[in-house]
Amino acid sequence: MKKTNANIDFPTETIQEGKAKILVPKLKAFTKQPSDYAPSKAPVFYNPVMELNRDIAVLALQAYQRIVDREISVCEPLTGCGIRGIRFATEVKGIKKVMINDISDKAAQLARINVQRNKLDERVTVKNKDANLLLAHYSAPHKRFDAIDIDPFGSPTPYIDSAIRALRNNGLLALTATDMAPLCGVHPKACIRKYGGKPLRTEYCHELAIRLLTGCLAMIAAKHDIGIHVIFSHSANHYIRVYATINYGAKKADESIGKMGYILHCFKCFHRKTANELFKTDQHRCSECGSKMNFAGPLWLGKLADQQFCKTMKSEAKRKALKTGEKTVKILNLISEEADAPPTYYVLDKICDRMALPVPSTEKIIRALKERGFKATATHFNPKGIRTGADASVLTSIVKEFFEKVK
Ligand SMILES: C[S@@+](CC[C@H](N)C(=O)[O-])C[C@H]1O[C@@H](n2cnc3c(N)ncnc32)[C@H](O)[C@@H]1O
Ligand SMILES: [Zn+2]
Repeated sequence: MKKTNANIDFPTETIQEGKAKILVPKLKAFTKQPSDYAPSKAPVFYNPVMELNRDIAVLALQAYQRIVDREISVCEPLTGCGIRGIRFATEVKGIKKVMINDISDKAAQLARINVQRNKLDERVTVKNKDANLLLAHYSAPHKRFDAIDIDPFGSPTPYIDSAIRALRNNGLLALTATDMAPLCGVHPKACIRKYGGKPLRTEYCHELAIRLLTGCLAMIAAKHDIGIHVIFSHSANHYIRVYATINYGAKKADESIGKMGYILHCFKCFHRKTANELFKTDQHRCSECGSKMNFAGPLWLGKLADQQFCKTMKSEAKRKALKTGEKTVKILNLISEEADAPPTYYVLDKICDRMALPVPSTEKIIRALKERGFKATATHFNPKGIRTGADASVLTSIVKEFFEKVK
């Protein structure tokens, strides 16, 4: 066993997050100017802003454990100071063991100290390996994990294949991506390289980002004759998260591939369309205004959350007194509402900007759409966003009429 009380030769402080008390680098000591991004300047990674991300991860894991209704094993192969894995072990009921790992010696050392401080030596193991090497070691039957949480710098794609192989049938995979510039179309070539799909700089690019990551996951899983079921996903600050369970079987993989396709977008009139096909390259013309449509994909066209799973997460959120509780429940409500709505959303700012109109309240326009018999919901992606089955032209005329009425 490695010594845990070896010297930590950098400034630290103890913080509490959820039920865990964690020794973390004292971030203020590592910034020279206000623009410095402290978490990556510190010798071990720790980002307090990700508390909401970790709170939601705790809720999702607890909801998953309740659904499978047995003791589960979890792996967090890119753990930093250990905060996420330690929170799983302290806050989620029904956890048999957690394995946390980091390639950095200093991170693994700090994680070991944190495991001891939280009295978790019996249930939490700390490793100090490359994540893919570690996961490969657990990729044989009976060795696999019930849940794996990949929370890297940038893109999770280098770890997806190993994670799929180290996950048991019906296991839960959680992925964070923070490389929003490629995923949102600022660096399209990088997105194609990493995710195998073309991004598009639209007002709903964060949703496209989730669909590109999920599409990439579906294609990697399919290689192993494994299908995926997305039970939750969200976008916040500078990252996206996807939670999916995996199902063994070539048929399941085929079903997942059946949910791949393209999203076509008309930059002239805001019209969108989905094309549920993988290998067709027809040029599409906008059915509303006749312009040539641009596209994003291949990407995931299936659902981005499961309403029942959201409900279970919500009841867990009410049980656990999380610091981000109120905000988290708000996000869960919105995601649950939009779970069954069609892909893409309209953004009122964008529409009103084109028509030189002020931006009306989202709720009022949603109400007007519903009065016309259209399904319409808000979205957690954007406070001015609306998901609806109505075409862009219908929405545009509803917005116009709204201002004519209030004149
Ligand atoms: C974003 S941080 C993890 C944050 C942590 N999951 C949390 O919730 O606070 C990413 C971590 O991955 C580690 N890392 C980078 N490449 C790795 C690799 N190939 N194998 C294992 N760990 C790696 C880094 O040292 C860093 O601590
Ligand atoms: Zn058009």
